[in-house]
Amino acid sequence: MLRKHPSRNHYTTLAKKLGLFSRAAFKLQHVQKRYGFLKPGDKVIILGSAPGGMTQLAAKYVGPRGLVVAVDVKPQDLKIANNVINMISDVLDPNIIERIKEALKGELADKLISDLAPNLTGIKEIDIPKQLELVESTLRIAGELLRKGGDLYLKLFESPEVKDIEKSLRHSFQKVKRIVPIATRKHSSEIFLLALDKK
Ligand SMILES: C[S@@+](CC[C@H](N)C(=O)[O-])C[C@H]1O[C@@H](n2cnc3c(N)ncnc32)[C@H](O)[C@@H]1O
Repeated sequence: MLRKHPSRNHYTTLAKKLGLFSRAAFKLQHVQKRYGFLKPGDKVIILGSAPGGMTQLAAKYVGPRGLVVAVDVKPQDLKIANNVINMISDVLDPNIIERIKEALKGELADKLISDLAPNLTGIKEIDIPKQLELVESTLRIAGELLRKGGDLYLKLFESPEVKDIEKSLRHSFQKVKRIVPIATRKHSSEIFLLALDKK
């Protein structure tokens, strides 16, 4: 039977074929193609960066004048590119803002991407609070380290709290869009919020 859209597994295979470290790269490519999200010269923070698919593309999009600060508790491939700083850190660490600030050499970031996901148990009552803790930390980092006019691309899992998070982002950003990247697996509750132009 002919498929109208490529299957979601198609992206895992395609990532391997293109030498990308993960299918997550296509979730960044999605907003890049539609909104021209990253610009040459941008300073970008990626939270939840390992194994590194998004970092690989981000490094290419921002180019040699740009900088990608990639943060994860797990290591990602160190040979990604010269314009990438790898930080093996927990975003829940109380010193995380200071540590990222150091990597940015005191400057503010133009873009913040959060692809953080806890180890999922499949039990909503455990997974959702863990995910929300990561979102809270992302919003704190955005508040401190994202410049005025900067943009945030934030992964979430569908829950009753998403509406409140969206509402709070509307206070701090001019525009907020809900996005389900084409590479998101079928039946996944994952969504992204793209918050543009920090006030
Ligand atoms: C979906 S994966 C990220 C995929 C990645 N964006 C890529 O392009 O390959 C989610 C990541 O969140 C990371 N993570 C979960 N909790 C974290 C925490 N508290 N601090 C830092 N990273 C965390 C996990 O280690 C995992 O690598």
